[in-house]
Amino acid sequence: MSKLTELYEEIAACQRCDLAKSRTKVVPGEGPEDAEIMFIGEAPGFHEDRQGRPFVGAAGRFLEELLASIGLKREDVYICNVIKCRPPGNRDPLPEEIEACRPFLDRQIELVQPKLIVTLGRYSMARYFPNAKISRIHGQPRKMGGVIYYPMYHPAAALHQPRYRADIERDILKIPQLLEEIDHMADDAQALQAEQLSLF
Ligand code: URA
Repeated sequence: MSKLTELYEEIAACQRCDLAKSRTKVVPGEGPEDAEIMFIGEAPGFHEDRQGRPFVGAAGRFLEELLASIGLKREDVYICNVIKCRPPGNRDPLPEEIEACRPFLDRQIELVQPKLIVTLGRYSMARYFPNAKISRIHGQPRKMGGVIYYPMYHPAAALHQPRYRADIERDILKIPQLLEEIDHMADDAQALQAEQLSLF
């Protein structure tokens, strides 16, 4: 059994927060164990909770369209969420739920070792850019510790709001070039703390 599969079993048995009581299935994430790109969404919704798979509803179909626009299929990338269980009624995740799930996402990143982490929406963006506003930093890659972090709007928001849709459709088109340039991009790790407040 791979380390990632072992992790999925651990997630399936998780009782760290109250979402364990209301979930139908956990939604750990899916994709190649050596994926170059990892997409991190917010939380499972109704369909994801039923199927135990991330992004299988309307937002997922849109994400697949976006991937197709750069010649990728969902099977080519790793897709997961900040939290692994559906919040009742699709409410926003609570800070304690995000905290309880944090070690799982950390471990996923450690095992997959993506070159590019695409954050979808505010909750996954906040993990890397805690004081940032998504309207200001979407579509702006930052390299930190050898990994590129690339914030984008959440596909669900973009589905319903034409102004976000145009942005997300434009932002995804930068990904192929980012992958090509990754080895030559300057790494912001050291400058990050100093720059975070002033730039974002
Ligand atoms: N929205 C998310 O953030 N994640 C999913 O898996 C589905 C919808």
